[in-house]
Amino acid sequence: MACSLLPCAVVAVLLLVLPSPSAGDPDLLQDICVADLTSAVKVNGFACKAAATEEDFYFKGLGAAGNTSSNTYGAVVTAANVEKVPGLNTLGVSMSRIDYAPGGLNPPHTHPRATEMVFVLQGALDVGFITTGNKLLAKTISAGDVFVFPRGLVHFQKNNGDSPAAVISAFNSHLPGTQSLATALFAASPEVPDGVLTKAFQVGTKEVEKIKSRLAPKKS
Ligand SMILES: *[C@@H]1O[C@H](CO)[C@@H](O)[C@H](O)[C@H]1NC(C)=O
Repeated sequence: MACSLLPCAVVAVLLLVLPSPSAGDPDLLQDICVADLTSAVKVNGFACKAAATEEDFYFKGLGAAGNTSSNTYGAVVTAANVEKVPGLNTLGVSMSRIDYAPGGLNPPHTHPRATEMVFVLQGALDVGFITTGNKLLAKTISAGDVFVFPRGLVHFQKNNGDSPAAVISAFNSHLPGTQSLATALFAASPEVPDGVLTKAFQVGTKEVEKIKSRLAPKKS
């Protein structure tokens, strides 16, 4: 980086003085703050419950495979985040299990608040993420392998094998947040205007309406 002596000194001082951005959830201010998921109080995280027990730090849900027939993607995420394990509130970590039928896809999505690290329990997956420079970093991973999806970057996993696959994911946030590109753009409520999508994707209204009709939440 080219800079003359004075501006360089100013930048160096600012870098030392300014607080560096947190790389994950903020530090905790107490031992535990078990989430009161029913509280209407809005804080950065969840309000703390008055009384906590060991059950607030316990979850049994990751041992069994999720039902990959329950959606059209053939992949299902079972989360163990603060919404399932209230004791995780403010601790800055969480996990999930993802199961994939043969051909199953965890469609392109981002986690705005966490880096994700997957460990393959069984099967093989084609995985990848895309940098802000639009470079795809992709690899085939199999049982015992680990792969990392950096915070905020678009990523996916697909099972191109003939047998089921499963991973355990670790996150540096108690609630990483998931924004799936297809549903964010084509199944938001209220709808993203057709004119935004036709111009963004360089297609006609018919194509946009077709995708919207496929992804729209089922009206009950
Ligand atoms: C899995 O989901 C499908 C579709 O919703 C359902 O028909 C099936 O009974 C479920 N299987 C199990 C084992 O729950």
